[in-house]
Amino acid sequence: MKTIDMNNMKIIKVKNYEEMSQKAAKLVEAQVLVKRNSVLGLATGSTPEGMYQELAKKYRNDEVDFKDVVAFNLDEYYPISADNDQSYAHYMREHFFQHVNIQENNRNIPDGLNKDVQASCRAYDRALEAAGNVDLQILGIGTNGHIGFNEPDEHFAVGTHLVDLNEKTIQDNARFFEHIDEVPKQALSMGVGSIMHAKKIVLLASGKNKAEAIRAMVKGPVTPELPASILQMHQDITLIIDEEAASEL
Ligand code: GLP
Repeated sequence: MKTIDMNNMKIIKVKNYEEMSQKAAKLVEAQVLVKRNSVLGLATGSTPEGMYQELAKKYRNDEVDFKDVVAFNLDEYYPISADNDQSYAHYMREHFFQHVNIQENNRNIPDGLNKDVQASCRAYDRALEAAGNVDLQILGIGTNGHIGFNEPDEHFAVGTHLVDLNEKTIQDNARFFEHIDEVPKQALSMGVGSIMHAKKIVLLASGKNKAEAIRAMVKGPVTPELPASILQMHQDITLIIDEEAASEL
């Protein structure tokens, strides 16, 4: 493990996916130890699966207690029911919530079915604010540099909003579906503004297919064309990336 600083970002370079997952779980554990009622911003995708497994193990071993933790997920497909196996609500139950003791009313995920999108997005933002915003935000990164589902665009979105997923994201996420046509074309995502309000951010990346996005995020200009690049402006951002994801730095 090697730590370097680049463009205001603390970069922890680890060997592989396992080491990334263990290191990330330790940071979450430390956050909850320091503040037991922490607000955790949570991500989905294949990247944080190992971290959730590690956290579940820590919970089983009585090393961490999530009783007072509040969780806010970054995003959800739209439209999708929380019962659908492809929903992020389902992902969270499978990979994390059913294994730990985060109370049900402290688990927040954008509502993939609410027909009044504006109202449900505003309600999500208000809930986030009422909780005091995120203490520790976990992020993955899309191969096109998206965070949450904030896709490359002409401007940065502030609050929770409806997104048209771009072709690259649909292709990348098709692996979770039987056929690419089944991938929803839209999603609800916390805005870049809300993500930047988090007190601490930890971004995880593993594998060669993330190397170019990581390079552009760390070394490229800050631009909404590569949403993750705004993280250069955050005051407490740590990347935990494996050798392959760091290979273009
Ligand atoms: C998904 C999610 C993101 C995630 C990213 C990378 O579409 N909306 O929150 O970070 O794309 O996914 P993965 O970790 O599977 O590579």
